[in-house]
Amino acid sequence: MAQSASNPAGGVRTLIRYDGREKIAWDIFICAVVFLCAILVPYRLLSGFDPIDAFYVFVTVVFCIDIGIVFRTTVVSGRTVIADPEIIAQRYLRSWFFWDLLSAFPFPVFVLLAGNDTAAQGALLPWLGGLRLVRLLSLLKVNSFFGRLPEFVKISGAALRLVVFAYWLILVTHFIALGWLAIGAGKPEGEFFTRYLRALYWCITTISTIGYGDITPDHSNHLQLVYTMVIQLFGVGVYGFVIGNISTLVANLDAAKAEYKRKTGEVLEYMRRHAIPAPLQFKVRDYFAYLWETRGNVGKVEFLEELPRQLGVDLALFVNRDVIAKVPLFREADELFLRQVVGLLKPVVFLPGDNIMLEGEHADCMYFLSAGDVDVLVQGVARASLGAGSFFGEGALVEGGWRTATVRALGYCEGYSLSVEDFNLLRRRYPEFDKRVLEMVEARRR
Ligand code: CMP
Repeated sequence: MAQSASNPAGGVRTLIRYDGREKIAWDIFICAVVFLCAILVPYRLLSGFDPIDAFYVFVTVVFCIDIGIVFRTTVVSGRTVIADPEIIAQRYLRSWFFWDLLSAFPFPVFVLLAGNDTAAQGALLPWLGGLRLVRLLSLLKVNSFFGRLPEFVKISGAALRLVVFAYWLILVTHFIALGWLAIGAGKPEGEFFTRYLRALYWCITTISTIGYGDITPDHSNHLQLVYTMVIQLFGVGVYGFVIGNISTLVANLDAAKAEYKRKTGEVLEYMRRHAIPAPLQFKVRDYFAYLWETRGNVGKVEFLEELPRQLGVDLALFVNRDVIAKVPLFREADELFLRQVVGLLKPVVFLPGDNIMLEGEHADCMYFLSAGDVDVLVQGVARASLGAGSFFGEGALVEGGWRTATVRALGYCEGYSLSVEDFNLLRRRYPEFDKRVLEMVEARRR
């Protein structure tokens, strides 16, 4: 995940890739630390209990390490990746560096420097408290981190939006509750935590537009009244947003599953309308269930056809890696052949008992089996059994066009078909393929 960059001194310094897993993991960790800071820093400040403790040291150290990491991480500008440490440093110094330094800077050292001078300490302390809030600026970076989460963890777009929404909602609720205390609202008695809980309770009942009314602003205090009204309006917005979005978010949480349900629903409705016999209906339903379980989708993935050719080939190579690994004819083939062949293969599924081809039938394609077993029958007598990794249907394409045997699927079978035109093209272009196919035809004839 690391990338090397030569430096003017002649040595080679290691840079961290901006899209490396380690960097993304670090960013997620920073998101969590920033979240913790956003919760604890203002809370501690308001409670008046804000010591220089392990939490403070931990956050300071993490933020300092982060600055070091940013200096050593490649950056993207448009579509180009910048791996020159000098340019990286310049860009960082011109953008976030100052704020990051301010967030990480251990300001309490000034208090220590002031020594026993209590007047100086008294003047410094309120400033230091305020400066600690600078750490909240890091929240501005959080959304760009979230954007990269799907590269690291398997998360759908809808689930990610839910996580981001929850992250911000928790923080905003927390800030509003603290704001309520800061303006002196609520009963002043009790420990700070109890007062905070009461404020949070007020905040949640107000934002969620429940508004029990058991905790209310002091009606003679303008600030509290205005604050409440603003939060009430904000609550209406949030409520509308939640109602409007959560249902779509949840519905889209698993878009593929929703699509599967929609498609099967459509098919079942069609079969019901046409009074298709129950066993046939069952077979169709079973087929869709099989597709869903094995592939996680039903039917064609349309966007593949819109990809540029090379990208499409790369994707096809990856998607078809199972058949490439299993079929010896492919496994031993060279890269050029593979890149050509994956673009020509069409995925097929056969149901248990299906006659994939019938003896004497005209042939227009051959098949490669990636999963399942088939029986080869000549005049009703089993001649051979073929499993994953084998191919069949080549005989008729080489010799005359008529199937020499019946091939029947034993269970669910998956594989790929290759049309006669593409088969002939491959034979012409790749003599090695031609040779292997002819050898197989010869062997099977015996
Ligand atoms: P084809 O003649 O196109 O259609 C039937 C297919 O069954 C044939 O191609 C071969 O791929 C396959 N086949 C025929 N005989 C045998 C055999 N003895 N062993 C394995 N496969 C066979």
